[in-house]
Amino acid sequence: MRVNDIRTLFFNFFASKGHKILNSAPMVMQNDSTLMFTNAGMNQFKDIILGEAQAEELNVANTQKCLRVSGKHNDLEEVGHDTYHHTMFEMLGSWSFGDYFKEQAIDLAWDFLVKNCNLDVDRIYVTVFEGTDNGKFPKDNESFNIWKKYLPQNRILNGSSKDNFWSMGAKGPCGPCSEIHYDNRENNEREKECGSHLINKDHPQVIEIWNLVFMQYNQSTDGTFSKLSTYHVDTGMGLERLAMIMQGVKSNYDTDVFQAIIKEISKHSGFQYGSEKKKDIAMRVISDHIRAISFSIAEGQLPSNTKAGYVIRRILRRAVRYAYTFLNIKEPYLFNLVNVLVKNMEGYFPELKAQNKLITDVIKEEEESFLKTLDLGLKRIEQIKLTVKDIVSGKQVFELYDTFGFPKDLTSLILAESNMRFNEEEFDSYMQEQKERSKNLSQIKTGEWEILVEDDVEEFVGYNTNEVEVTITKFRNVVSQNKLLYQIVFNVTPFYAEGGGQVGDVGVIKNKNESIKIIDTKNENGLIIHYVDELPKNLSDKFIATVDSDFRTSCSRNHTATHLLHHSLRNILGDHVVQKGSLVNSQYLRFDFTHFSKIEASLLQKIENDVNEKILQNIKLEVFNNLPLSQAKEMGAMMLFSEKYNDVVRMIQFDKSKELCGGTHVNATGEIGMFKILSEGSIASGIRRIEAITAMGTLSYFNQIEDTLKDISHLVKSNDLKSGILQLINSNKELEKKLASLKGKNSESEAKNLLECCVKYCEKNNLR
Ligand code: SER
Repeated sequence: MRVNDIRTLFFNFFASKGHKILNSAPMVMQNDSTLMFTNAGMNQFKDIILGEAQAEELNVANTQKCLRVSGKHNDLEEVGHDTYHHTMFEMLGSWSFGDYFKEQAIDLAWDFLVKNCNLDVDRIYVTVFEGTDNGKFPKDNESFNIWKKYLPQNRILNGSSKDNFWSMGAKGPCGPCSEIHYDNRENNEREKECGSHLINKDHPQVIEIWNLVFMQYNQSTDGTFSKLSTYHVDTGMGLERLAMIMQGVKSNYDTDVFQAIIKEISKHSGFQYGSEKKKDIAMRVISDHIRAISFSIAEGQLPSNTKAGYVIRRILRRAVRYAYTFLNIKEPYLFNLVNVLVKNMEGYFPELKAQNKLITDVIKEEEESFLKTLDLGLKRIEQIKLTVKDIVSGKQVFELYDTFGFPKDLTSLILAESNMRFNEEEFDSYMQEQKERSKNLSQIKTGEWEILVEDDVEEFVGYNTNEVEVTITKFRNVVSQNKLLYQIVFNVTPFYAEGGGQVGDVGVIKNKNESIKIIDTKNENGLIIHYVDELPKNLSDKFIATVDSDFRTSCSRNHTATHLLHHSLRNILGDHVVQKGSLVNSQYLRFDFTHFSKIEASLLQKIENDVNEKILQNIKLEVFNNLPLSQAKEMGAMMLFSEKYNDVVRMIQFDKSKELCGGTHVNATGEIGMFKILSEGSIASGIRRIEAITAMGTLSYFNQIEDTLKDISHLVKSNDLKSGILQLINSNKELEKKLASLKGKNSESEAKNLLECCVKYCEKNNLR
């Protein structure tokens, strides 16, 4: 069975047992301060397990794209060196949210492995939690007794908290777990040593395949545990490991998905897989890393210098260096492997196919840029190795990072190959110093909130009106860029807070005594905060709050134009165009999106025309407030693979342009007046930026051009600019010619004079 078939087998089995099959959540986490990447199937269900959200279905199953390269679950060091760890892997998972518990979970796992996958029962071992010595957690006798239905007692082993008590991270849901292990060794080896001695001993052929976690507790940040009100089942099985067993091979990398990639690498490098240890490791590393990188880029997480982007860059650079040093691949090459990966996995992961070109182009560009400094960096490491004994200074490793783009773990890996280490503490302090230097000096110092009205919920009414009577519910002072400002919150507000690319509203609050300017509006944890540079004298007065309507209208025009542009870009360039950022203010709009090459002038014109046609059609705005996400999806709203949306959304529609958006918009596209693109260019690998203007902005733009043209016409003394300038160019050419010939004539006559003098002198002095 191919990996794709095994995945389907799993889904069919759990569907037949009443489980709803769900999609994988994105691998790159959005808006989670504790986790950059999904590291377990249960991440997306954390809130349900903690009782903070309601499960829509009690029993579900899926495959989850996981990446384990940082934090509590980090396998990076093992990847490629052994044959069964990965950076990115698929975790087949099944859950029961407060429905069935240990018995049914174990029965289902057994049923699937033995009856559906036909695994050899004699090779299966399981572990159960042995409890803690201090009696805090008891032994999991329940699981032990259930397993006795299927296995002799000597194949049900006790496991410590390290292996048999699962938690996602330092805090969150956790509980005892029961692991299923498989002894994949040859029979003669099995006869020599009993598999039970090799469980959890890092033996490449005696490995854990499935973990059944029984979620019973929540761990708090202070390390204390509390019992969950409802117990849940969370199981996770490594698809790649199961495939290894079912395909009768000895390594995950010998299964079809990895072999397809390894064959390509082997063909290109000329080295046979299986012929030399270091080369094999390199091929495994590359075939693993290309998956992690590709999936991440497909979700919109491109390599960069910070956070999740840097994790991806590190993985990519690690792969490039393995190819360079061990497979003699000195040119960008890894990007060629994307096609094979896509071919193998697009069936279940359409995002790979949709973003194939972007993934390829980004990897190629990253390779090109790292290969520029890789050789120099490697030479520098060789020099360091010659002069340093075994501990390299943190400063040197920092220089490698800063000058040659060597992530510290890559340098560490290269040093480790020669049994060398580096001073990590010193490196970290250099990094810290650099960070502090570049930290924005204009940090904001914020005072305490002064509450004027308790528990009042601020309501936003700005979609429908520009003006409303308000009272101030709280305020505080902030120091921003060395200036004292105040933040105030109202009971109700017409001011739009910066969000979705659109800047915050400005305006005024007024009553008969005074008038205070609102200079900006921002959103903090759902609260709309208005910035003023002076507080009203009487804070408990009522005020009329009025949004600057010219400002707001201009923003709305630019926002709607951004939607139209987005739609035209996708129509004309293709569906690979994905929004990467936007800025909408009263002056102009800026739209960043994925697209690899420069957009030709004629195509750009076509895009601009398309937007202007939509403006002329005066398409009416349709707003769908409180729309269920599934319905928005059905209606064809633009959605990003990388976003996790609320269940209820607001959709803005202008004919075929449908976007989930909280911004303000014109009532009909005609109000935009006109749309003009000012620039198009690249801002990062694979990301382009368009800047454009609308309405009166375009008029003043054209007026400026007209003024310049008038000035020129005055200078060339002709109303026909083209012929006037041509005339100037031609007469300039004529003059240049004349000048050159005059210069020639001059030097010719000078030479003649000199020669004559010379001849005369010779004659006079009788010289020849
Ligand atoms: N959460 C457990 C794991 O990741 C089981 O899914 O191993």
